[in-house]
Amino acid sequence: MPILHTPLTFRSGLTIANRTVLAPMTNLQSLADGSLGDAELVWLRRRALDGFGLIETCAAFVSADGQGWPGELGVHSDAMVPGLTRLATELHRAGAPAFVQLFHGGARAAEAIIGRPWSASEIAGDPANPRAATEDDIHGTIRAFAAAAKRAKEAGFAGVEIHGAHGYLPCQFLSRVQNTRTDGYGGSYEGRSRFLREVTRAVRAAVGHDFVVGVRVSLEDFGQAVGMDLDEGLTLAKELADDGAEFLHASLWDASRMTTKRPEFHGISLLREALPRDVRIIAAGKIWSRADADAALERGADAVALGRVAVAHPAWPKASIEAAYAPAAPPFTPETLRAADLSEAFVNYMKRWKGFVA
Ligand SMILES: Cc1cc2nc3c(=O)[nH]c(=O)nc-3n(C[C@H](O)[C@H](O)[C@H](O)COP(=O)(O)O)c2cc1C
Repeated sequence: MPILHTPLTFRSGLTIANRTVLAPMTNLQSLADGSLGDAELVWLRRRALDGFGLIETCAAFVSADGQGWPGELGVHSDAMVPGLTRLATELHRAGAPAFVQLFHGGARAAEAIIGRPWSASEIAGDPANPRAATEDDIHGTIRAFAAAAKRAKEAGFAGVEIHGAHGYLPCQFLSRVQNTRTDGYGGSYEGRSRFLREVTRAVRAAVGHDFVVGVRVSLEDFGQAVGMDLDEGLTLAKELADDGAEFLHASLWDASRMTTKRPEFHGISLLREALPRDVRIIAAGKIWSRADADAALERGADAVALGRVAVAHPAWPKASIEAAYAPAAPPFTPETLRAADLSEAFVNYMKRWKGFVA
């Protein structure tokens, strides 16, 4: 049996049947108030039925002031719990445990929905013109992450992933350029990493030790993640594991590439060296073929998260039993995507991803 198709156990006890993870993917299919939409359930359930070892939800906002876009899933209030329970139950019934991705947009929250957003600090030149967080914002948001994790557990999910990547709020705190605070939540690495570490500790304390907690990270700058530093990211990964994270999810965007800062090293190998062996590593970024997945596992990942390939090819986990499996590349017709259980809204959203929809 190839490693990819063998089970994986997390520290807190969860075992997944194989090492294919559906990457968290925003799909704008939730209702206006953040509650679960049927189309969101249909698209995720298909991937559970088709053999993914683990399903991650899209980014789900933990408090109203962190909502990033219309149609985003919410985990911010108890009113969301019935929909979340339905989702967790259906995915479990379809054969896969699921994690909720806990999200706060910070400066990237949707102004049209929430008004003026806030961030670690004001960000010079940022068109969103975020105001600087007060101590109340910070402590209230740490509590909101913890409460959201508790709701996910009550709803029957197997775990949560704190979204610490891609330039959203935790990343804005970490950033060497966006965080210009002069108090204990800014300045040195210790100050800039404090928010994400306190979130992780609060989440772990809220859910106990029989529930999976992990963090998604951007080790280096990409897109909206700016002011990241590879060595700080590796130190942080280690500290987050001390704080209660039992997996780190490296969002690499291109898992075949070496790091920018130290081109002789790969991000997965560096993370593997930095972390205790029983802290799991999930790796994501342009993993398309079985060979791509095997390469990530050989570098030290314990599981691979599949994004775009899983949108077009839901049966990837089963098909990849074949060592030479290399599914068709984009563009895909809307018919192909509809046949893969994407709603019209999601097909339209995928048109924003260059070259994906024919
Ligand atoms: C449609 C779409 C939506 C995404 N939404 C999220 C999200 O909600 N949270 C997140 O952490 N990453 C999100 N991502 C990034 C993916 O999880 C993944 O890391 C990235 O697409 C690279 O993997 P891939 O090359 O397999 O697509 C999204 C990507 C796509 C294509």
